[in-house]
Amino acid sequence: MTNDKRVAVVTGGIGTAICQRLRLANNGCQVVATYYPSEEEKLAEWSAARESEGLQIGLAAGDVSSAEDSARMMAEIEEQFGTVNILVNCAGITRDTTMKRMEPEQWNAVIDTNLSSVFYVTKPVWEGMLNRGFGRVINISSVNGQRCQFGQVNYAAAKAGMHGVTMTLAQEGATKNVTVNTVSPGYVKTAMTDAIREDIRESIIAGIPMIRMGLPEEIASTVAFLASDEQAYITGANIPVNGGLFIS
Ligand code: CAA
Repeated sequence: MTNDKRVAVVTGGIGTAICQRLRLANNGCQVVATYYPSEEEKLAEWSAARESEGLQIGLAAGDVSSAEDSARMMAEIEEQFGTVNILVNCAGITRDTTMKRMEPEQWNAVIDTNLSSVFYVTKPVWEGMLNRGFGRVINISSVNGQRCQFGQVNYAAAKAGMHGVTMTLAQEGATKNVTVNTVSPGYVKTAMTDAIREDIRESIIAGIPMIRMGLPEEIASTVAFLASDEQAYITGANIPVNGGLFIS
């Protein structure tokens, strides 16, 4: 298989920068961005922005917290764009609050969207990757899955769980040239971190050794590196991109 036949799927989150980078990497693979159906109204603007950058990126709607809808979405992507060789599980939400106040709905929403989604979205394309002898699965976790974070019991559990998935799938895919890795960003400048109360955000930044947030491009370049054909021997890794916030 030649590089230009690669199809890469990127679910939500810091996905824009990852889509841009993957579209340009791997000799221009076909990138498909997935979005939550209720976000449809933002799409025209998003697509116009990508087109003005000269990037054709496919789109597919689906609820990654649902097994059925994820299976439908991935089947439709494969029908329209071809078999999926690269998958970036990036969709994620926060429902931050202390344990004292957290309701089961807030726990379940984060576990379903951030962790169960990895199983739901990967499952429909996993066997094909094994059968064809090539695959790259990259799970976007978080520094807060590697260490603690006040107010994020749900998010920390989901993000730590993602790397559990990575390690096991890495082992299951190893003889078939399917690599599975985690990228664990620190605090990155996105709508998610913009939502943190300003005084708390400032104190978090002050505690980062590089004294700044990361840029989405800095995550995207790490993903493109792991997705490339050349990186066939890194698997089961958890790559930190966090400005030194957690050093292990
Ligand atoms: N460690 C210890 N104690 C802390 C603390 C900490 N880190 N943060 C707050 N506290 C204490 C406070 O001092 C306060 O104590 P008192 O009651 O004695 O005054 C008490 O806990 C309550 O603190 P808050 O005022 O912060 O409580 P709140 O209910 O208003 O807010 C919260 C809770 C929403 C969780 C808020 O603390 C918060 O937003 N924290 C940041 C969470 C965070 O980092 N989220 C990351 C989002 S981005 C992301 O997730 C991307 C990624 O991957 C990194």
